[in-house]
Amino acid sequence: MPREFKVLIAGGGMAGLILGQLLELAGIEYMIFEKAPRPTTLGSAMGFGPNIMPLFEQLGMLEDIAKISKLVDHTLVLDEDLNVVADIDGKAMRKKLGYGHYIFSRPDMFQLLLSRVPAHKVFFSKKILTVEEEIDKVTLKFSDNSQISGDICVGADGGYSAVRQSLYRSLKARGILPRKDMEDLTFGFYNLLGTTNPMDPAKYPALAAPDCKIELMQRTTTKHALHTFTVPGNRFCWNVTNHVQTDEGANCTVFRNSEWGNETAQSMCNEVRDFKAPFGGTMADYIDATPKEAISIVMLEEKLFKTWYGSRTVLVGDACHKMLPSAGQGAINAIQDAVVLANNLYDLPDRPTLKNISFCFNLYRSERYPMAKMAFQLSQQQSKLISGQSLTDRMKRKMAFSYIPQFVQNKAMEKPNAYRPQVNFLPMVPDRGTYKVLQRRLSKRYQEEMGVSKAV
Ligand SMILES: Cc1cc2nc3c(=O)[nH]c(=O)nc-3n(C[C@H](O)[C@H](O)[C@H](O)COP(=O)(O)OP(=O)(O)OC[C@H]3O[C@@H](n4cnc5c(N)ncnc54)[C@H](O)[C@@H]3O)c2cc1C
Ligand SMILES: *[C@@H]1O[C@H](CO)[C@@H](O)[C@H](O)[C@H]1NC(C)=O
Ligand SMILES: *[C@@H]1O[C@H](CO)[C@@H](O)[C@H](O)[C@H]1NC(C)=O
Ligand SMILES: *[C@@H]1O[C@H](CO)[C@@H](O)[C@H](O)[C@H]1NC(C)=O
Ligand SMILES: *[C@@H]1O[C@H](CO)[C@@H](O)[C@H](O)[C@H]1NC(C)=O
Repeated sequence: MPREFKVLIAGGGMAGLILGQLLELAGIEYMIFEKAPRPTTLGSAMGFGPNIMPLFEQLGMLEDIAKISKLVDHTLVLDEDLNVVADIDGKAMRKKLGYGHYIFSRPDMFQLLLSRVPAHKVFFSKKILTVEEEIDKVTLKFSDNSQISGDICVGADGGYSAVRQSLYRSLKARGILPRKDMEDLTFGFYNLLGTTNPMDPAKYPALAAPDCKIELMQRTTTKHALHTFTVPGNRFCWNVTNHVQTDEGANCTVFRNSEWGNETAQSMCNEVRDFKAPFGGTMADYIDATPKEAISIVMLEEKLFKTWYGSRTVLVGDACHKMLPSAGQGAINAIQDAVVLANNLYDLPDRPTLKNISFCFNLYRSERYPMAKMAFQLSQQQSKLISGQSLTDRMKRKMAFSYIPQFVQNKAMEKPNAYRPQVNFLPMVPDRGTYKVLQRRLSKRYQEEMGVSKAV
Protein backbone atom coordinates (compact mmCIF):
# COMPACT_ATOMS: atom_id res chain seq x y z
CA MET A 1 0.00 0.00 0.00
CA PRO A 2 1.50 3.37 -0.94
CA ARG A 3 1.76 5.87 1.91
CA GLU A 4 1.99 9.50 1.04
CA PHE A 5 3.82 10.74 4.07
CA LYS A 6 7.41 10.88 5.18
CA VAL A 7 8.80 10.49 8.71
CA LEU A 8 12.03 12.28 9.67
CA ILE A 9 13.75 10.53 12.57
CA ALA A 10 16.10 12.74 14.59
CA GLY A 11 18.81 10.63 16.23
CA GLY A 12 20.08 7.17 15.34
CA GLY A 13 20.35 5.69 18.84
CA MET A 14 18.47 2.69 20.19
CA ALA A 15 14.99 4.16 19.67
CA GLY A 16 15.72 5.79 16.30
CA LEU A 17 17.19 2.63 14.75
CA ILE A 18 14.38 0.36 15.95
CA LEU A 19 11.80 2.82 14.67
CA GLY A 20 13.57 2.81 11.30
CA GLN A 21 13.42 -0.97 11.14
CA LEU A 22 9.71 -0.96 11.99
CA LEU A 23 8.81 1.75 9.47
CA GLU A 24 10.73 -0.20 6.83
CA LEU A 25 8.47 -3.18 7.58
CA ALA A 26 5.40 -0.95 7.64
CA GLY A 27 6.20 0.42 4.19
CA ILE A 28 6.32 3.97 5.52
CA GLU A 29 8.93 6.34 4.09
CA TYR A 30 11.52 7.56 6.61
CA MET A 31 15.05 8.93 7.00
CA ILE A 32 17.31 8.82 10.09
CA PHE A 33 19.63 11.72 10.94
CA GLU A 34 22.46 11.10 13.41
CA LYS A 35 24.89 13.76 14.58
CA ALA A 36 27.81 11.38 15.21
CA PRO A 37 30.16 11.04 12.23
CA ARG A 38 30.23 7.23 12.44
CA PRO A 39 28.79 4.29 14.41
CA THR A 40 29.80 4.72 18.03
CA THR A 41 32.21 2.57 20.04
CA LEU A 42 31.16 4.26 23.27
CA GLY A 43 29.12 2.50 25.91
CA SER A 44 29.12 -0.26 28.46
CA ALA A 45 26.74 -3.02 29.50
CA MET A 46 23.05 -2.81 28.76
CA GLY A 47 20.35 -5.43 29.03
CA PHE A 48 17.08 -6.61 27.55
CA GLY A 49 14.53 -8.69 29.42
CA PRO A 50 11.07 -10.24 29.12
CA ASN A 51 9.33 -6.90 28.58
CA ILE A 52 11.05 -6.33 25.24
CA MET A 53 12.21 -9.77 24.01
CA PRO A 54 8.85 -10.64 22.37
CA LEU A 55 9.53 -7.78 19.91
CA PHE A 56 12.89 -9.28 18.94
CA GLU A 57 11.30 -12.69 18.63
CA GLN A 58 8.74 -11.15 16.22
CA LEU A 59 11.57 -9.56 14.27
CA GLY A 60 13.43 -12.88 14.08
CA MET A 61 16.37 -11.46 16.02
CA LEU A 62 16.60 -13.82 19.00
CA GLU A 63 19.63 -15.64 17.61
CA ASP A 64 21.41 -12.43 16.67
CA ILE A 65 20.88 -11.12 20.17
CA ALA A 66 21.99 -14.38 21.78
CA LYS A 67 25.26 -14.12 19.80
CA ILE A 68 26.23 -10.77 21.32
CA SER A 69 24.83 -11.44 24.80
CA LYS A 70 25.18 -13.53 27.89
CA LEU A 71 22.27 -14.47 30.13
CA VAL A 72 22.32 -13.49 33.79
CA ASP A 73 22.23 -16.39 36.25
CA HIS A 74 23.57 -14.56 39.30
CA THR A 75 24.52 -11.09 40.37
CA LEU A 76 27.04 -10.76 43.17
CA VAL A 77 27.15 -7.68 45.37
CA LEU A 78 30.56 -7.17 47.00
CA ASP A 79 31.95 -4.85 49.64
CA GLU A 80 35.23 -3.12 48.98
CA ASP A 81 37.27 -5.99 50.39
CA LEU A 82 35.65 -8.36 47.87
CA ASN A 83 33.41 -10.07 50.45
CA VAL A 84 30.10 -11.20 48.98
CA VAL A 85 27.27 -9.17 50.53
CA ALA A 86 24.51 -10.65 48.41
CA ASP A 87 23.99 -13.21 45.65
CA ILE A 88 20.90 -12.35 43.62
CA ASP A 89 19.45 -15.25 41.70
CA GLY A 90 18.45 -14.26 38.19
CA LYS A 91 17.79 -17.78 37.00
CA ALA A 92 14.91 -18.72 39.28
CA MET A 93 12.59 -16.29 37.54
CA ARG A 94 13.44 -17.27 33.98
CA LYS A 95 10.82 -19.99 33.66
CA LYS A 96 8.11 -17.80 35.12
CA LEU A 97 9.02 -14.82 32.95
CA GLY A 98 9.49 -16.85 29.79
CA TYR A 99 12.72 -15.09 28.81
CA GLY A 100 16.05 -14.52 30.55
CA HIS A 101 17.91 -11.26 31.01
CA TYR A 102 20.37 -10.65 28.17
CA ILE A 103 23.45 -8.51 28.83
CA PHE A 104 25.46 -7.05 25.93
CA SER A 105 27.74 -4.12 25.26
CA ARG A 106 25.96 -1.11 23.73
CA PRO A 107 28.30 -0.81 20.74
CA ASP A 108 27.52 -4.45 19.78
CA MET A 109 23.76 -3.84 19.98
CA PHE A 110 24.15 -0.60 18.07
CA GLN A 111 25.89 -2.47 15.22
CA LEU A 112 23.17 -5.12 15.18
CA LEU A 113 20.32 -2.58 15.05
CA LEU A 114 22.15 -0.57 12.40
CA SER A 115 22.57 -3.68 10.24
CA ARG A 116 18.79 -4.08 10.12
CA VAL A 117 18.19 -0.69 8.49
CA PRO A 118 19.18 -0.08 4.83
CA ALA A 119 22.40 1.98 4.86
CA HIS A 120 21.04 4.63 2.49
CA LYS A 121 18.37 5.60 5.03
CA VAL A 122 20.81 6.50 7.83
CA PHE A 123 22.64 9.81 7.51
CA PHE A 124 25.65 10.38 9.77
CA SER A 125 27.25 13.76 10.59
CA LYS A 126 23.80 15.38 10.52
CA LYS A 127 23.41 17.45 13.67
CA ILE A 128 19.94 18.92 14.04
CA LEU A 129 19.80 22.47 15.36
CA THR A 130 16.11 23.31 15.10
CA VAL A 131 12.76 21.99 13.96
CA GLU A 132 10.34 24.35 12.25
CA GLU A 133 6.67 23.62 11.86
CA GLU A 134 4.41 24.93 9.15
CA ILE A 135 0.79 24.01 8.63
CA ASP A 136 1.51 21.31 6.04
CA LYS A 137 5.08 20.25 6.81
CA VAL A 138 7.90 20.08 9.34
CA THR A 139 11.49 21.11 8.53
CA LEU A 140 14.73 20.02 10.19
CA LYS A 141 17.64 22.46 10.01
CA PHE A 142 21.14 21.04 10.37
CA SER A 143 24.45 22.48 11.56
CA ASP A 144 25.86 22.14 8.01
CA ASN A 145 23.22 24.67 6.85
CA SER A 146 21.22 22.06 5.00
CA GLN A 147 17.55 21.37 5.70
CA ILE A 148 14.90 18.81 4.90
CA SER A 149 11.12 18.73 5.12
CA GLY A 150 8.70 15.91 5.85
CA ASP A 151 5.28 15.26 7.32
CA ILE A 152 6.26 14.01 10.77
CA CYS A 153 9.36 14.56 12.91
CA VAL A 154 10.27 12.02 15.59
CA GLY A 155 12.70 13.31 18.23
CA ALA A 156 14.75 10.22 19.11
CA ASP A 157 17.75 12.39 19.90
CA GLY A 158 18.34 11.47 23.53
CA GLY A 159 18.25 13.25 26.88
CA TYR A 160 19.43 16.62 25.56
CA SER A 161 17.10 16.42 22.54
CA ALA A 162 17.35 19.37 20.16
CA VAL A 163 13.92 18.42 18.84
CA ARG A 164 12.43 18.66 22.33
CA GLN A 165 14.06 22.02 22.91
CA SER A 166 12.68 23.35 19.62
CA LEU A 167 9.21 21.99 20.31
CA TYR A 168 9.18 23.37 23.86
CA ARG A 169 10.35 26.81 22.72
CA SER A 170 7.39 27.09 20.40
CA LEU A 171 4.91 25.69 22.94
CA LYS A 172 6.27 28.09 25.54
CA ALA A 173 5.88 31.04 23.19
CA ARG A 174 2.25 30.00 22.73
CA GLY A 175 1.86 29.75 26.51
CA ILE A 176 0.97 26.05 26.49
CA LEU A 177 4.08 24.41 27.93
CA PRO A 178 3.53 23.04 31.47
CA ARG A 179 5.80 24.76 34.00
CA LYS A 180 7.37 21.44 35.02
CA ASP A 181 8.61 20.90 31.47
CA MET A 182 10.56 24.17 31.61
CA GLU A 183 12.78 22.87 34.43
CA ASP A 184 16.16 21.23 33.85
CA LEU A 185 16.82 17.54 34.20
CA THR A 186 17.69 16.52 37.75
CA PHE A 187 21.31 15.64 38.26
CA GLY A 188 22.00 12.25 39.81
CA PHE A 189 25.66 11.35 39.61
CA TYR A 190 28.35 10.80 37.06
CA ASN A 191 29.60 7.63 35.56
CA LEU A 192 32.80 6.48 33.85
CA LEU A 193 32.35 3.53 31.55
CA GLY A 194 33.63 1.37 28.73
CA THR A 195 33.98 -2.07 27.15
CA THR A 196 37.43 -3.68 27.23
CA ASN A 197 39.28 -5.41 24.42
CA PRO A 198 39.48 -9.21 24.84
CA MET A 199 41.19 -10.14 28.11
CA ASP A 200 42.85 -13.34 29.29
CA PRO A 201 40.40 -16.02 30.56
CA ALA A 202 43.31 -17.75 32.30
CA LYS A 203 43.68 -14.66 34.45
CA TYR A 204 39.92 -13.97 34.69
CA PRO A 205 38.11 -17.35 34.73
CA ALA A 206 34.73 -15.54 34.83
CA LEU A 207 35.24 -14.68 31.14
CA ALA A 208 35.12 -18.36 30.18
CA ALA A 209 31.72 -18.96 31.81
CA PRO A 210 28.79 -19.17 29.40
CA ASP A 211 26.58 -17.01 31.62
CA CYS A 212 27.04 -13.32 32.33
CA LYS A 213 29.06 -12.85 35.50
CA ILE A 214 28.14 -9.65 37.27
CA GLU A 215 29.93 -8.15 40.24
CA LEU A 216 28.76 -4.91 41.79
CA MET A 217 31.04 -3.36 44.39
CA GLN A 218 30.19 -0.60 46.82
CA ARG A 219 33.10 1.44 48.20
CA THR A 220 31.85 3.00 51.39
CA THR A 221 35.13 4.85 51.97
CA THR A 222 35.04 6.84 48.73
CA LYS A 223 31.36 6.73 47.65
CA HIS A 224 32.19 4.97 44.41
CA ALA A 225 30.32 2.01 42.98
CA LEU A 226 32.19 -0.30 40.57
CA HIS A 227 30.16 -2.47 38.23
CA THR A 228 31.61 -5.20 36.03
CA PHE A 229 29.88 -7.56 33.58
CA THR A 230 31.24 -10.28 31.28
CA VAL A 231 30.11 -10.18 27.63
CA PRO A 232 30.98 -12.50 24.69
CA GLY A 233 34.46 -12.27 23.17
CA ASN A 234 36.28 -12.47 26.54
CA ARG A 235 35.45 -8.85 27.25
CA PHE A 236 34.30 -6.95 30.32
CA CYS A 237 31.84 -4.08 30.36
CA TRP A 238 32.61 -1.88 33.33
CA ASN A 239 31.37 1.30 34.91
CA VAL A 240 32.27 3.42 37.90
CA THR A 241 29.75 5.72 39.50
CA ASN A 242 30.84 8.55 41.73
CA HIS A 243 28.06 9.54 44.08
CA VAL A 244 28.82 13.21 44.39
CA GLN A 245 26.08 15.17 46.13
CA THR A 246 23.66 17.12 44.01
CA ASP A 247 24.95 20.62 44.71
CA GLU A 248 28.59 19.66 44.19
CA GLY A 249 27.47 18.05 40.97
CA ALA A 250 25.56 21.09 39.87
CA ASN A 251 28.85 23.00 39.96
CA CYS A 252 30.54 20.37 37.88
CA THR A 253 29.86 22.10 34.56
CA VAL A 254 32.71 20.29 32.92
CA PHE A 255 30.82 17.01 33.16
CA ARG A 256 27.39 18.50 32.72
CA ASN A 257 28.10 19.58 29.20
CA SER A 258 30.09 16.61 28.04
CA GLU A 259 27.13 14.29 27.30
CA TRP A 260 28.31 10.92 25.99
CA GLY A 261 31.91 11.89 25.30
CA ASN A 262 35.43 10.93 26.27
CA GLU A 263 36.75 14.47 26.79
CA THR A 264 36.94 14.54 30.56
CA ALA A 265 37.28 10.82 31.09
CA GLN A 266 41.02 10.79 31.75
CA SER A 267 40.91 12.69 35.02
CA MET A 268 38.31 10.37 36.47
CA CYS A 269 40.30 7.38 35.22
CA ASN A 270 43.25 8.61 37.24
CA GLU A 271 41.08 9.02 40.30
CA VAL A 272 39.93 5.39 40.30
CA ARG A 273 42.91 3.47 38.85
CA ASP A 274 44.17 2.12 42.15
CA PHE A 275 40.81 0.87 43.43
CA LYS A 276 40.59 -2.86 44.07
CA ALA A 277 38.35 -4.14 41.28
CA PRO A 278 35.65 -6.80 41.02
CA PHE A 279 37.10 -10.04 39.55
CA GLY A 280 40.53 -9.18 41.05
CA GLY A 281 43.31 -6.74 40.23
CA THR A 282 42.66 -3.01 40.14
CA MET A 283 40.52 -0.73 37.99
CA ALA A 284 43.70 0.14 36.08
CA ASP A 285 43.58 -3.35 34.52
CA TYR A 286 40.17 -2.59 32.98
CA ILE A 287 40.96 0.98 32.03
CA ASP A 288 44.20 0.01 30.29
CA ALA A 289 42.43 -2.79 28.38
CA THR A 290 39.88 -0.32 27.00
CA PRO A 291 40.83 1.85 24.00
CA LYS A 292 40.99 5.50 25.05
CA GLU A 293 38.42 6.53 22.50
CA ALA A 294 35.99 3.94 23.87
CA ILE A 295 35.92 5.33 27.42
CA SER A 296 33.25 7.86 28.21
CA ILE A 297 32.11 9.86 31.16
CA VAL A 298 28.46 10.70 31.44
CA MET A 299 26.13 12.59 33.70
CA LEU A 300 23.32 10.48 34.95
CA GLU A 301 20.30 12.71 35.06
CA GLU A 302 16.63 12.00 35.22
CA LYS A 303 13.39 13.60 34.18
CA LEU A 304 9.98 12.46 33.06
CA PHE A 305 8.62 15.11 30.69
CA LYS A 306 4.87 15.66 30.47
CA THR A 307 4.72 16.98 26.92
CA TRP A 308 5.49 14.31 24.34
CA TYR A 309 4.20 15.88 21.15
CA GLY A 310 2.95 19.00 19.42
CA SER A 311 1.68 19.53 15.84
CA ARG A 312 3.84 17.30 13.62
CA THR A 313 6.56 16.57 16.17
CA VAL A 314 6.66 13.67 18.62
CA LEU A 315 9.28 12.51 21.12
CA VAL A 316 10.48 8.99 21.97
CA GLY A 317 13.02 7.50 24.39
CA ASP A 318 15.35 9.57 26.52
CA ALA A 319 14.06 12.70 24.77
CA CYS A 320 10.84 12.44 26.82
CA HIS A 321 11.84 10.24 29.78
CA LYS A 322 15.44 10.11 30.88
CA MET A 323 15.84 7.49 33.60
CA LEU A 324 18.64 6.56 35.95
CA PRO A 325 20.22 3.38 34.55
CA SER A 326 20.19 1.12 37.61
CA ALA A 327 17.00 -0.73 36.76
CA GLY A 328 18.12 -1.13 33.14
CA GLN A 329 14.80 0.27 31.91
CA GLY A 330 15.94 3.29 29.86
CA ALA A 331 16.73 1.52 26.60
CA ILE A 332 13.82 -0.90 26.99
CA ASN A 333 11.34 1.92 27.39
CA ALA A 334 12.86 3.79 24.46
CA ILE A 335 12.30 0.73 22.29
CA GLN A 336 8.79 0.18 23.65
CA ASP A 337 8.04 3.79 22.62
CA ALA A 338 9.26 3.04 19.10
CA VAL A 339 7.02 -0.04 18.88
CA VAL A 340 3.89 1.74 20.07
CA LEU A 341 4.55 4.79 17.90
CA ALA A 342 5.12 2.58 14.84
CA ASN A 343 1.86 0.74 15.59
CA ASN A 344 -0.05 4.01 15.60
CA LEU A 345 1.73 5.40 12.52
CA TYR A 346 0.77 2.21 10.71
CA ASP A 347 -2.91 2.95 11.30
CA LEU A 348 -2.69 6.47 9.85
CA PRO A 349 -4.61 7.01 6.60
CA ASP A 350 -2.45 7.10 3.46
CA ARG A 351 -2.61 10.88 3.34
CA PRO A 352 -2.99 11.95 6.99
CA THR A 353 -4.36 15.34 8.02
CA LEU A 354 -2.87 17.27 10.93
CA LYS A 355 -5.87 16.09 12.97
CA ASN A 356 -5.12 12.44 12.13
CA ILE A 357 -1.53 12.99 13.22
CA SER A 358 -2.50 14.57 16.57
CA PHE A 359 -4.91 11.73 17.17
CA CYS A 360 -2.16 9.20 16.43
CA PHE A 361 0.33 10.93 18.76
CA ASN A 362 -2.26 11.10 21.50
CA LEU A 363 -2.94 7.36 21.31
CA TYR A 364 0.80 6.72 21.48
CA ARG A 365 1.31 8.92 24.53
CA SER A 366 -1.76 7.58 26.33
CA GLU A 367 -0.43 4.04 26.13
CA ARG A 368 3.16 4.88 26.89
CA TYR A 369 3.13 7.61 29.54
CA PRO A 370 1.78 5.50 32.46
CA MET A 371 4.23 2.70 31.61
CA ALA A 372 7.17 5.08 31.33
CA LYS A 373 6.17 6.63 34.65
CA MET A 374 6.18 3.23 36.32
CA ALA A 375 9.62 2.43 34.90
CA PHE A 376 10.86 5.88 35.89
CA GLN A 377 9.84 5.36 39.50
CA LEU A 378 11.26 1.84 39.52
CA SER A 379 14.58 3.22 38.24
CA GLN A 380 14.63 5.83 40.98
CA GLN A 381 14.01 3.27 43.72
CA GLN A 382 16.44 0.75 42.29
CA SER A 383 19.11 3.37 41.91
CA LYS A 384 18.80 4.30 45.58
CA LEU A 385 18.77 0.66 46.55
CA ILE A 386 21.89 -0.22 44.55
CA SER A 387 23.88 2.97 44.90
CA GLY A 388 22.36 5.35 47.48
CA GLN A 389 24.95 6.56 49.95
CA SER A 390 23.03 8.07 52.85
CA LEU A 391 22.87 6.02 56.04
CA THR A 392 19.20 5.13 55.42
CA ASP A 393 20.03 4.09 51.84
CA ARG A 394 22.74 1.80 53.15
CA MET A 395 20.47 0.30 55.79
CA LYS A 396 17.72 -0.27 53.26
CA ARG A 397 20.22 -1.96 50.95
CA LYS A 398 21.33 -4.27 53.71
CA MET A 399 17.69 -5.08 54.48
CA ALA A 400 16.82 -5.68 50.87
CA PHE A 401 19.77 -7.92 50.17
CA SER A 402 19.75 -9.81 53.45
CA TYR A 403 16.26 -10.10 54.82
CA ILE A 404 13.62 -9.53 52.17
CA PRO A 405 12.75 -12.95 50.81
CA GLN A 406 13.28 -13.58 47.11
CA PHE A 407 9.56 -13.98 46.40
CA VAL A 408 8.83 -10.45 47.61
CA GLN A 409 11.54 -9.10 45.31
CA ASN A 410 10.14 -11.23 42.51
CA LYS A 411 6.65 -9.89 43.17
CA ALA A 412 7.96 -6.39 42.55
CA MET A 413 9.10 -7.45 39.09
CA GLU A 414 5.69 -8.77 38.07
CA LYS A 415 4.10 -5.48 37.13
CA PRO A 416 6.81 -4.15 34.82
CA ASN A 417 7.05 -7.55 33.17
CA ALA A 418 3.34 -7.83 32.42
CA TYR A 419 3.58 -5.11 29.77
CA ARG A 420 5.17 -6.55 26.63
CA PRO A 421 4.18 -4.54 23.58
CA GLN A 422 4.52 -6.17 20.16
CA VAL A 423 4.33 -4.87 16.63
CA ASN A 424 0.63 -4.99 15.75
CA PHE A 425 1.12 -5.24 12.00
CA LEU A 426 3.20 -8.42 12.10
CA PRO A 427 2.14 -11.87 13.27
CA MET A 428 2.33 -11.82 17.07
CA VAL A 429 4.39 -14.35 19.01
CA PRO A 430 2.69 -16.27 21.82
CA ASP A 431 3.16 -15.20 25.41
CA ARG A 432 5.93 -17.07 27.15
CA GLY A 433 6.24 -17.84 30.84
CA THR A 434 3.48 -18.05 33.40
CA TYR A 435 2.90 -14.37 34.12
CA LYS A 436 -0.28 -12.80 32.92
CA VAL A 437 0.65 -10.51 30.05
CA LEU A 438 -1.42 -7.40 29.25
CA GLN A 439 -3.74 -7.80 26.30
CA ARG A 440 -2.57 -6.63 22.86
CA ARG A 441 -4.59 -6.03 19.72
CA LEU A 442 -3.68 -6.49 16.05
CA SER A 443 -3.88 -3.33 13.97
CA LYS A 444 -7.28 -2.78 12.37
CA ARG A 445 -5.68 -1.81 9.11
CA TYR A 446 -3.45 -4.89 9.18
CA GLN A 447 -6.42 -7.20 9.77
CA GLU A 448 -8.24 -5.60 6.85
CA GLU A 449 -5.20 -6.02 4.64
CA MET A 450 -4.74 -9.62 5.74
CA GLY A 451 -8.42 -10.22 5.07
CA VAL A 452 -7.95 -8.80 1.58
CA SER A 453 -4.82 -10.81 0.84
CA LYS A 454 -6.47 -13.99 2.13
CA ALA A 455 -9.46 -13.34 -0.14
CA VAL A 456 -7.03 -12.92 -3.06
C1 LIG B 1 27.21 6.87 22.61
C2 LIG B 1 26.23 6.44 23.65
C3 LIG B 1 26.60 5.49 24.61
C4 LIG B 1 25.72 5.08 25.59
N1 LIG B 1 26.13 4.15 26.48
C5 LIG B 1 25.27 3.73 27.45
C6 LIG B 1 25.66 2.75 28.42
O1 LIG B 1 26.77 2.24 28.41
N2 LIG B 1 24.77 2.38 29.38
C7 LIG B 1 23.50 2.93 29.43
O2 LIG B 1 22.72 2.56 30.30
N3 LIG B 1 23.11 3.85 28.51
C8 LIG B 1 23.95 4.27 27.53
N4 LIG B 1 23.54 5.22 26.62
C9 LIG B 1 22.17 5.75 26.71
C10 LIG B 1 21.17 4.79 26.19
O3 LIG B 1 21.48 4.43 24.86
C11 LIG B 1 19.83 5.46 26.26
O4 LIG B 1 19.57 5.81 27.61
C12 LIG B 1 18.68 4.55 25.86
O5 LIG B 1 19.08 3.56 24.98
C13 LIG B 1 17.55 5.37 25.21
O6 LIG B 1 17.80 5.45 23.82
P1 LIG B 1 17.50 6.70 22.95
O7 LIG B 1 17.49 6.22 21.54
O8 LIG B 1 16.32 7.43 23.45
O9 LIG B 1 18.74 7.67 23.19
P2 LIG B 1 20.27 7.47 22.78
O10 LIG B 1 20.63 6.05 22.73
O11 LIG B 1 21.03 8.39 23.66
O12 LIG B 1 20.31 8.00 21.27
C14 LIG B 1 20.17 9.35 20.89
C15 LIG B 1 20.90 9.54 19.58
O13 LIG B 1 20.63 10.84 19.07
C16 LIG B 1 21.82 11.45 18.63
N5 LIG B 1 21.64 12.89 18.72
C17 LIG B 1 21.60 13.66 19.84
N6 LIG B 1 21.40 14.95 19.52
C18 LIG B 1 21.30 15.01 18.18
C19 LIG B 1 21.09 16.08 17.26
N7 LIG B 1 20.96 17.35 17.67
N8 LIG B 1 21.04 15.78 15.93
C20 LIG B 1 21.17 14.50 15.50
N9 LIG B 1 21.38 13.46 16.34
C21 LIG B 1 21.44 13.71 17.66
C22 LIG B 1 22.86 10.89 19.59
O14 LIG B 1 24.16 10.98 19.02
C23 LIG B 1 22.40 9.46 19.75
O15 LIG B 1 22.93 8.61 18.77
C24 LIG B 1 24.41 5.65 25.63
C25 LIG B 1 24.01 6.59 24.68
C26 LIG B 1 24.90 7.00 23.69
C27 LIG B 1 24.46 8.02 22.66
C1 LIG C 1 28.41 25.75 44.03
O1 LIG C 1 28.51 27.06 43.49
C2 LIG C 1 27.88 28.06 44.28
C3 LIG C 1 27.96 29.40 43.55
O2 LIG C 1 28.89 29.38 42.52
C4 LIG C 1 28.55 28.12 45.66
O3 LIG C 1 27.90 29.09 46.47
C5 LIG C 1 28.43 26.76 46.32
O4 LIG C 1 29.12 26.76 47.55
C6 LIG C 1 29.02 25.67 45.43
N1 LIG C 1 28.75 24.39 46.03
C7 LIG C 1 29.69 23.47 46.22
C8 LIG C 1 29.26 22.22 46.92
O5 LIG C 1 30.83 23.59 45.82
C1 LIG D 1 38.68 10.86 22.58
O1 LIG D 1 38.50 10.10 21.40
C2 LIG D 1 39.14 10.61 20.26
C3 LIG D 1 38.79 9.70 19.08
O2 LIG D 1 37.41 9.51 19.01
C4 LIG D 1 40.64 10.62 20.48
O3 LIG D 1 41.26 11.21 19.36
C5 LIG D 1 40.95 11.44 21.73
O4 LIG D 1 42.32 11.32 22.01
C6 LIG D 1 40.17 10.91 22.92
N1 LIG D 1 40.39 11.78 24.07
C7 LIG D 1 40.83 11.32 25.24
C8 LIG D 1 40.99 12.34 26.32
O5 LIG D 1 41.08 10.16 25.43
C1 LIG E 1 26.48 0.80 35.51
O1 LIG E 1 26.29 -0.46 36.10
C2 LIG E 1 25.02 -0.68 36.66
C3 LIG E 1 25.03 -2.00 37.33
O2 LIG E 1 24.00 -2.15 38.22
C4 LIG E 1 23.99 -0.64 35.57
O3 LIG E 1 22.71 -0.86 36.09
C5 LIG E 1 24.05 0.69 34.89
O4 LIG E 1 23.19 0.65 33.78
C6 LIG E 1 25.45 1.03 34.44
N1 LIG E 1 25.46 2.42 34.03
C7 LIG E 1 25.70 2.79 32.77
C8 LIG E 1 25.63 4.24 32.47
O5 LIG E 1 26.00 1.99 31.92
C1 LIG F 1 -8.54 11.58 9.32
O1 LIG F 1 -9.05 12.88 9.40
C2 LIG F 1 -10.23 13.09 8.63
C3 LIG F 1 -10.59 14.56 8.71
O2 LIG F 1 -9.55 15.36 9.17
C4 LIG F 1 -11.34 12.21 9.17
O3 LIG F 1 -12.49 12.35 8.39
C5 LIG F 1 -10.87 10.76 9.16
O4 LIG F 1 -11.84 9.95 9.79
C6 LIG F 1 -9.55 10.60 9.88
N1 LIG F 1 -9.08 9.23 9.69
C7 LIG F 1 -8.58 8.49 10.67
C8 LIG F 1 -8.15 7.10 10.31
O5 LIG F 1 -8.43 8.91 11.80
